[in-house]
Amino acid sequence: MKAKKIREGIYWVGAIDNDLGILHEYKAEKGTTYNAYLIIDEKITLIDAVKPNFAEEMIKRISSVIDPSKIDVVVSNHVEMDHSGAIPDIMKYIPDAEIITSPSGKKGLIDHYKKNWNFKVVKTGETYNIGKRNLNFILTPMVHWPDNMVTYVPEEKILFSNDSFGQHYASPSLYDDECPEEVVLEEAQKYYANIVLPYHKQVQKEMKAVEKLDIEMLATSHGAIIRKNIDKIMEKYRQWSSNETEKKAIIVFDTMWGSTEKMAYTIKSAFEEKGYNTFIFNLQEDHISDIMTQFIDSEYVCIGSPILNNNMMPSVAGFLTYMSGLTPGKRKAFTFGSFGWGAQLKKVNKYLDEVKFEILDTIEHKYVPTEEDLEKMKASVMEKI
Ligand code: FEO
Repeated sequence: MKAKKIREGIYWVGAIDNDLGILHEYKAEKGTTYNAYLIIDEKITLIDAVKPNFAEEMIKRISSVIDPSKIDVVVSNHVEMDHSGAIPDIMKYIPDAEIITSPSGKKGLIDHYKKNWNFKVVKTGETYNIGKRNLNFILTPMVHWPDNMVTYVPEEKILFSNDSFGQHYASPSLYDDECPEEVVLEEAQKYYANIVLPYHKQVQKEMKAVEKLDIEMLATSHGAIIRKNIDKIMEKYRQWSSNETEKKAIIVFDTMWGSTEKMAYTIKSAFEEKGYNTFIFNLQEDHISDIMTQFIDSEYVCIGSPILNNNMMPSVAGFLTYMSGLTPGKRKAFTFGSFGWGAQLKKVNKYLDEVKFEILDTIEHKYVPTEEDLEKMKASVMEKI
């Protein structure tokens, strides 16, 4: 368990978690990392920590560079326990060290750990000198909790961005340019869609502040450190936070006896004939967090459910609850499904009305649609796209 040098005097001392599994409905198939950083300067500084059960790993990595009791300053950019969980362990070595955090960060750390450590509260624009380097702080509330902030080191052109620009990805290398680019970008998209999406206004504020900085390295707190695709990821954050969509449609459905599935594939062929990049998801097989990854830049969202007990299928209700909780921007929508003796797609539509989607059509078929029904359905959908 060794530290990894990322610059002269700056080390990655984080932890790798290959078994994160499902965390608040996020399926982290590729694991994650908790990135903490150690700066050796006149004041030895630890930037963020790791999840509590990885404290020993972090302390071993720190110990491969210096005695942990030599740390003078801890910067806590975010209280959530995947970043602050090991702070109580490191504070056993350095009970008098300063903990630099935001005003909400101080309250959050006290609420979590019930310790009145030596806090130094900072606000946007404040600078703290650690010797040859300075730490500049920018508060980024709600990206992802009220306490979030980022720390910029101008002498190194590194932004320690915490959750922003991160990926749940136990990357094979520390750096994005040594990982498959498409995986880093897709995991960054999944992370944004499932974690950051509700806070688009706050992201726009953060982007205004960080776009002015000269950045050579986005030292995230999850996944690969970004040094190649900085502009690309920043442009994606700008696009996603502005609710810009692409010529893309997603079709999400569950099915009982195959009728709603036939309708789903009919809608898919309608979008494909219109030249749309189309993704289809069967809720019996696909995870809702993977659906959100494709949702984020889709112009159209189509939701299909058969009727079960006078309601939609529970899997569809689960997806709609999750999706609407992420408070997405407006989308154009179709709803569809088969029924036996009581059509109830109005319950699906209610969810979409609440998030202000424009429902272009609701298509219901009794029991099994014929080939002719499906042809008509396709033509009708194509007319409305
Ligand atoms: Fe990675 Fe909001 O914690």
